[in-house]
Amino acid sequence: MSEPSTHDPSTHDHRALDGLRILPVTGLGEFEPDSDVAAAITTAAPWLVDGDVLVVTSKIFSKTEGRMVDAPTDPDERDAFRRRLIDDETVRVVAKRNRTLITANRNGLVQAAAGVDGSNVRTDQIALLPVDPDASAARLRAALAARGLDVAVIVTDTMGRAWRTGQTDVAIGAAGVAVSHAYDGVDDAYGNTLIVTDIAVADEIAAAADLVKGKLDGVPVAVVRGWRPVDDGSSARDLVRDLDDDMFRLGVEEAIGQGRREAILTRRSVRAFADETVPEDVMNAAFGDALTAPAPHHTHPIRFLWLRDAQRRRALLDAMGDAWRTDLDRDEKSDESIAKRVARGQILYDAPELVIPVMTGEGMHTYSDARRNACETTMFTVAGGAAVSGLLVGLSVRGVGSCWVGSTIFAASTVRDVLDLPEQWQPLGAVAIGYPAAEPGLRAPAATDGLVIEL
Ligand SMILES: Cc1cc2nc3c(=O)[nH]c(=O)nc-3n(C[C@H](O)[C@H](O)[C@H](O)COP(=O)(O)O)c2cc1C
Repeated sequence: MSEPSTHDPSTHDHRALDGLRILPVTGLGEFEPDSDVAAAITTAAPWLVDGDVLVVTSKIFSKTEGRMVDAPTDPDERDAFRRRLIDDETVRVVAKRNRTLITANRNGLVQAAAGVDGSNVRTDQIALLPVDPDASAARLRAALAARGLDVAVIVTDTMGRAWRTGQTDVAIGAAGVAVSHAYDGVDDAYGNTLIVTDIAVADEIAAAADLVKGKLDGVPVAVVRGWRPVDDGSSARDLVRDLDDDMFRLGVEEAIGQGRREAILTRRSVRAFADETVPEDVMNAAFGDALTAPAPHHTHPIRFLWLRDAQRRRALLDAMGDAWRTDLDRDEKSDESIAKRVARGQILYDAPELVIPVMTGEGMHTYSDARRNACETTMFTVAGGAAVSGLLVGLSVRGVGSCWVGSTIFAASTVRDVLDLPEQWQPLGAVAIGYPAAEPGLRAPAATDGLVIEL
C-alpha cells in the first residue's frame, strides 16, 4: 500500500466535483446607457440561484457606463478614429508589428489595441473597456444582492495569448469570487510539493462561459453553476502580473531595440570592483566587439594586451610608478603630493583584470612631410580611442565594469621596455576591468546644450 499523502481535498480542492453547468442567458436584448443590468438579467434569468457565477461580457458595461464612443462610419475615417482612441487608452506599448498593436491599459491589461473594439457594436460606434471592470462587477453583484441574490460576477473580455494562437475569454473584472487558487506548498498525491501552481480560476470560468456565450449571436451573459465560488476579497486586478515580475513586458523586437539604444548608457567609469575574475569568454566577447571599431585604410592597428600574468603586471605597474615619481620629482612636488598622486594608480593593481590597449601603427602611410605624418599618427590614435571605447561598452553590456586610465600614455617607453614591445607601439592608457562592487545602473544621456554645434 502506498504512503498516505498529505494532500487534503477538503481544504485544497476547488473543483466542482459534482460537475458544472454552463447556462446561456438568452433574450437580454440591447443594452443602453440607462439600462439596469441587474433588472435585465434577473428578468431574463429568473432561474438564477445563490452560489451561481454570473459571467458578463464587458461590452454590456461599455454600453451602460458611457464607454461607447460615436465614430465615423466611413471605413478609413473610422480606422483613423479608432487608432486615436487606442492611443488614448494606451498606457504602455508592449509590441507593434505592422497593424497589430499590443498595449497595456490603465488597469494593466495587456491585449491587442487596448481593448478598443468595433465588433458587436453599431457601425457608428466604437466600444472602450469599462474604466474599472472590478468596480463594474462589484456594482452588479451588489445590485443583485439587493434583489436577494448572492451570486459572484465575472466580467470578461477576449484576449490573445503570447505563446498560443487563438483567443480565449479572460476575467477583467470580478466580485465575490476567489480569482485564483494557489497550491503553493501543497503536496500532490505522490508527495511532490507544488511550488508555483496558482490556477487562475476566474480566467478558466470566463473561458468556459464563452463556450455558451459565443461572439455573434447576442448571448453576452452566461451562468456557471456548481462551482461554489468563495469570496476572498480578490479581484481581477490581482490576475494582472506586476510589471516588475513580468519577464515579457516588451515584445522581442522592442526589447532588442531598447537594449541597443541603451548599450552606450550602460558604461560609466567603475573604480571599485567585486573580488571576482571575469570569465575568459566574456573578456573575449568584449574584445571581439571592440575590434570591429572603424580604422583607417581598412587596417587593424589596435592590440589589446591582456596582462594575465600577475608578476608581469606588478613589474609593469611598479616600473610605471617609479617613472611617474621621477616626473613628479622633476616638477618639484612634495613627497606627500607625489604619494597622493601615485596612490591613484592603485586601481591598476587591484582590478581583477588589466588590459593595455596599444596602437601599433601597422598600416600607417608615410608621407614626404612631417605635417602629414603627424596627421596620420593622429588618425590612427583616434581609431585606437574608438576601439577602447568599444571595449568599455562591450564589457558594460555584459555587466562588467571598467575604468580607462591614461597613465601608460605618459609612460610609453617604460611600457615598451617592461613588456618588450616594438618601438612604434603606442600605449593608449590602461583599462582596469572587473565586476562592479556596486550596481552602476543605467545613466541618462548627456545634455547636448552647447556641445552640439550646428553650423
Ligand atoms: C584617455 C582617458 C584617460 C583617463 N584617465 C583616467 C585616470 O587616470 N584616472 C581615472 O580615474 N579616470 C580616468 N579616466 C576616466 C575619466 O575620469 C572618466 O571617463 C570621466 O570622469 C567621466 O566619467 P564616466 O567615464 O563615468 O563617464 C580617463 C578617461 C579617458 C578617456
